Amino acid sequence: MDTGEDEQLPPRVEAEPEQPLVMYWQARERQHLRDVYAGVRIKKFPEDLRLMEHLMWLSRSQAVVELGTHFGGAALWFRDRLRALAGYGRVPAEVRVVSVDVRQDKARAALPAADPGYGREITLLEGDITDPDTARRVAAALPAGARCLVVEDTLHTYDTTLAALRHFTPLVPLGGFFIAEDGIVDVPGLRPPGMPGGVQPAVRDWLASAQGAAFRQRRDLERYGLTCHPGGWLQRVR
Ligand SMILES: C[S@@+](CC[C@H](N)C(=O)[O-])C[C@H]1O[C@@H](n2cnc3c(N)ncnc32)[C@H](O)[C@@H]1O
Repeated sequence: MDTGEDEQLPPRVEAEPEQPLVMYWQARERQHLRDVYAGVRIKKFPEDLRLMEHLMWLSRSQAVVELGTHFGGAALWFRDRLRALAGYGRVPAEVRVVSVDVRQDKARAALPAADPGYGREITLLEGDITDPDTARRVAAALPAGARCLVVEDTLHTYDTTLAALRHFTPLVPLGGFFIAEDGIVDVPGLRPPGMPGGVQPAVRDWLASAQGAAFRQRRDLERYGLTCHPGGWLQRVR
């Protein structure tokens, strides 16, 4: 019987105790490119989503700025987590996701099937994150005074990571978080094909700058062992 399940579930990964751990990592990396949330493609490890959920709770995030929308599955996931936080009274009811991509045609086509009313809480913004004006437009789309989580998930090169850090960390409040995604591009053995790397060097160089001195790299938060974002969990401490 074809239940359409295969369209709605990620491919299966096996964890053989005898196999080298790096093979499991690689299989999980391939798998995460084909995962789905509410019927929409999402590119995140479940462990990373869980950690993001912890950080949203701890930092009382009322808004999420996502850099790199793709199909919009993660934007939906963030929106649903924000709604849950509001339901617990942890954040004000007026939650918002502002998700940025150079083009939003894929998300505009995919999101209405999951939620025709997605636009109430999700703003899809077209822009290049390396352009400082994009950050100004994002700031204007946020609820006044909202505490914000920023998740950088664009090209995962040195230049895009550094630009995201420079332009979007001003949106992160004291105690809040900025996640520079996909530092695995700099880990030998885990770098996906065709990725030049540069995420972790950009984070390191930016942390050494005057702007970066206000943030702390929280490697201690990598609680689940597997993360696509080694070295990318950053917290504003002043
Ligand atoms: C990895 S996908 C985003 C996946 C999504 N965040 C998720 O978890 O499902 C990366 C997206 O970043 C976008 N992108 C790449 N460079 C960009 C840039 N300079 N400015 C804005 N978006 C960019 C690409 O168009 C692509 O859709």
